[in-house]
Amino acid sequence: MNDDLVFSGVQPTGNLHLGNYLGAIKNWVDFQTSKKCIFCIVDLHAITSSENRKELSENTKQVAAAYIASGIDPKKSTVFVQSNIEGHSELAWILSCHTPIGWLNRMTQFKDKAGKNKEKAPLGLYSYPVLMAADILLYKSNYVPVGDDQKQHLELCRDIAQSFNRFYDTNFFPLPEPIITGTATRVMSLKDGKKKMSKSDPSDQSRINMTDTADIIQKKIQRARTDSLPFPEDDTELKDRPEVENLINIYLSISGEKKQNIFKEFSGRDFKGFKEALSETVVSRMSKISNEMNKLLSDKDYLNAILLDGFNKAKEISETNMREIKKIIKFYSK
Ligand code: TRP
Repeated sequence: MNDDLVFSGVQPTGNLHLGNYLGAIKNWVDFQTSKKCIFCIVDLHAITSSENRKELSENTKQVAAAYIASGIDPKKSTVFVQSNIEGHSELAWILSCHTPIGWLNRMTQFKDKAGKNKEKAPLGLYSYPVLMAADILLYKSNYVPVGDDQKQHLELCRDIAQSFNRFYDTNFFPLPEPIITGTATRVMSLKDGKKKMSKSDPSDQSRINMTDTADIIQKKIQRARTDSLPFPEDDTELKDRPEVENLINIYLSISGEKKQNIFKEFSGRDFKGFKEALSETVVSRMSKISNEMNKLLSDKDYLNAILLDGFNKAKEISETNMREIKKIIKFYSK
């Protein structure tokens, strides 16, 4: 049995930004040296929201290109599209029968996304965490690197796995562990440090898109909100300064620099120097990635071949596991 499997995914929502990169994709790259990895483009999740239902296939290729450009090696890792593999929806149904409604009612992301108009929210948005559990458990995954905002969904996934295992008196599903690493697992808006960086923020100034040019990145960082206090000396001076903390986290995450060194270098000064250093760091990393993404997107055959290969690898594991799951449930077998 493989007990070293990493699984994660990003939704093809269009307009990938720094939050997707630092909060997710960047942290996946290093796992490839020590573990078997499966990275999925979760398009079934994307259609839970009406604004994501357009240009699905282009956006799917964009995420695939972002994975590869960021350092996911398709020879080592399995990269595939969720909707290509039937097992995700099928297992989601089975797991939904092991998920009390009360558990779903606690999910804060649903409450945030559905807003006031809960009665009009689609059922799929509500049951989305069950589909996420199915993604993870279909491959019997052990580790799931995710951003901080997905922690609650991971806990639910473990509860569902346990509920299934207990009912059928089996230990078929492992209990996957969330891995929340990195200094910027939650990248915030450049305009409001209390809001997550998001592609649906009406202001483009609030985020750095993975396809922004160097010039645009520089301007956005220059105009990013800070405050009138000088650059902090230590962590205590970061209290109640979410915008400053966010910029520092972005810098640390990309540069790999130690926090103490940043405090030493910039403390007491205004933000001009720090913002220049930050711009340089972000531009040098992101422009490499966006160039590579553009190259990949102009060679569709190459990307398609990667996704086909990933599909074949994912199909084999998912079909084996689905057969086992059906045996455990004792469904009639033709
Ligand atoms: N829900 C995750 C997000 O919005 C995406 C996701 C779907 C995922 N299925 C997953 C992440 C399985 C990790 C594992 O970011």
